[in-house]
Amino acid sequence: MISKELNDQLTRVGRGQPAGEVLRRYWQPAALSDELAGNRPVVPVTLLGEKLVLFRDEQGKLGLIGRHCPHRGADMCFGRLEDNGLRCPFHGWHFNRDGQCVEQPGEPDASKMHEQIQTSSYPVVEKNGIVFAYMGPGEPPAFPGFDCFHAPETHVFAFKGLWECNWLQALEVGIDPAHASFLHRFLQDEDPKDSYGKQFRDEAADTKIPMTKLLREYPRPEIHVDETEYGLKLTALRHLKDGRTHVRVTNQIFPEAICIPMSREMTITQWHVPVDDQNCYWYSMFTSFDKPVNKEMMREQRLKEHRLPDYAPLKNKRNNYGYDPEEQSSETYTGMGMDINVHDQWAVESLGAVQDRTKEHLGKTDIGIIHYRRMLRAAIDSLQEGRENALPMRNGCNVGSIRGPLSNDAIAESKDWQQASERSDEERRAACPWDARV
Ligand code: FES
Ligand SMILES: [Fe+2]
Repeated sequence: MISKELNDQLTRVGRGQPAGEVLRRYWQPAALSDELAGNRPVVPVTLLGEKLVLFRDEQGKLGLIGRHCPHRGADMCFGRLEDNGLRCPFHGWHFNRDGQCVEQPGEPDASKMHEQIQTSSYPVVEKNGIVFAYMGPGEPPAFPGFDCFHAPETHVFAFKGLWECNWLQALEVGIDPAHASFLHRFLQDEDPKDSYGKQFRDEAADTKIPMTKLLREYPRPEIHVDETEYGLKLTALRHLKDGRTHVRVTNQIFPEAICIPMSREMTITQWHVPVDDQNCYWYSMFTSFDKPVNKEMMREQRLKEHRLPDYAPLKNKRNNYGYDPEEQSSETYTGMGMDINVHDQWAVESLGAVQDRTKEHLGKTDIGIIHYRRMLRAAIDSLQEGRENALPMRNGCNVGSIRGPLSNDAIAESKDWQQASERSDEERRAACPWDARV
């Protein structure tokens, strides 16, 4: 457990807040490219507690500017997308993608007042289906060369979903390898042929054992955590009765992403992006090391579970996440259906909007969470001491050359589980149709 003061420091995201300032030193997912696909590419974005509007101008370039018009505060999401910018419908003030006011059609003809009017604006970059924004000071950092950015657009599918809770508890479920044996337990095993696009439904690598069975039968993983240049590498070992070891490698990418295996074909890179202190979006990039991703199918599977335009899940706390005690006794551990996203959503939302960590009791399996909080505290301290260059991936390392990260399930025949995991990764990369060399 930690003090209330520390909990506030680690969770609050506003400008000037300790964790908010750390998050502002990294590119943040702001919207899906899908959201800009319609006739009028204008999307409201609330990110790190700031209300913004994202739009694509007539030159095809993106702008991310303040939501409220600097004149008298009208909502620019209702703006007129015209004349290569966004025009406020209240009195016609017109802004370009840099947030500069370029015209005030109701002011006297000779007025130069618009030259002094500037709304907030942030740099944005589109990468494989996600628009990223940089909201910190100075030059934005380079993008790491992770697989999800390195793979061609055909091999990456992006989606998002809203969770009604603070970003840190959302992230913490992703660095907790033990929960999969319980929260995501299926009491029956499904045919792995029906597993496309789903987590934990494939067979465990090089075995005929469904992942569901393996997780169910081996609930006490041995967890190792290593610090890396991008964050943390978490290795969960499950020692099987026949002498072999199942090795599952997942990662924490600083500050708020994870990279985990989904199936033998795909990995998931997932950010837990603060909307404000009490809400966050998960943004996922599903990266295929084999065939191009079947995006229509992936999108259709997920749109069935979400409402547009805000990507709020249809199962949520207002309908008890679809909880069915019958199902809980015979099919799933939660009674909340087969979609593991719903399980995670319940697990992170039911703690309360911001988990009260003064009352928690961390066990041995929470080692990833303990390491991560230590890293975040170190980053907060560094920033407060003016040592920005002590932050992960802002410390002068060649960020663009960071590849991977290795993220897989493997079976070790001997005690050398490290080698088994690395070999399985090398094999997948060697057979990959795009250049996945590390
Ligand atoms: S409030 Fe926007 S132009 Fe007046
Ligand atoms: Fe989970």
